Amino acid sequence: MSSIAPMRPALAWPRDEPYEDHPRGTLKSGKEAEIFLVERRFASGPRLLAHKRYRPRYPVKDQLRNEGFSNSTVYRGDSIYKAGWFLRTRDKRAVMGGTRYGHELAGRLWPMQEWTMLRRAWEAGASVPYPVEQTDHGLLMEFIGDDSQAAPKLGQARLTPAELTSAWDQLVENLRALTIAGLVHADLSVYNLLWWEGRLIVIDLPQAVEFTTNSDAYDLLHRDVTNVGEWFTRRGADVDVEALYADLLALAW
Ligand SMILES: Nc1ncnc2c1ncn2[C@@H]1O[C@H](COP(=O)(O)OP(=O)(O)OP(=O)(O)O)[C@@H](O)[C@H]1O
Ligand SMILES: [Mg+2]
Repeated sequence: MSSIAPMRPALAWPRDEPYEDHPRGTLKSGKEAEIFLVERRFASGPRLLAHKRYRPRYPVKDQLRNEGFSNSTVYRGDSIYKAGWFLRTRDKRAVMGGTRYGHELAGRLWPMQEWTMLRRAWEAGASVPYPVEQTDHGLLMEFIGDDSQAAPKLGQARLTPAELTSAWDQLVENLRALTIAGLVHADLSVYNLLWWEGRLIVIDLPQAVEFTTNSDAYDLLHRDVTNVGEWFTRRGADVDVEALYADLLALAW
């Protein structure tokens, strides 16, 4: 076991304090979910939240519009991530087989899965948005950014060479923390990493898998590190993806 450098500033989230939520509009429209910005006004001051809401799979007429969603929806069909889900045999068969019932069930499970994985990642000390609470079809988390802008994705941030090195070091520390906690992100890319005030933040965890319940976890980890490693290499960082993978494998055991 190795020690993990602190990657995340301590966050004092107000507890048991009354608040009022004020919607501040749509932040991003992703593949399956939309991110809404919410201002939560506590007596001690406002906090910005990101509300990730999954679109209904089979919306009734006007439901998407009424609930503030934009129209297009693409669903991930990849059953590889669902292999570790604990479900009754009948439900598992439906989810894996892609029946309508299975799709609906999976639609409800993705946000739950994301909540669970985000909490586990947070508890592992990884630099992820603070998980605030579950909602009907999604989750509320700490918004990364400030009043005037959302944090850019790493792939779009302009980094100095020193920042690039720091981003890689932080990525390594985050991957170590996740690996020690038994988790693989499984959709890691520079578009699921944010860069804010010199800090790297890992987001978008619904498809994260465990080493213990998913036999593809090791391959997914390799794909993750290769994916981001290539980006760093293209930008001139001197990184060794295979060495990192070997290092992580040793932690996973
Ligand atoms: N907590 C957050 N704070 C700030 N911005 C966020 C936060 N969560 C998500 N975002 C923004 O919303 C985008 C989509 O979020 P996320 O990647 O979780 O959803 P997704 O459905 O997978 O979308 P995509 O298909 O774009 O990857 C992110 O790329 C990021 O720009
Ligand atoms: Mg994403």
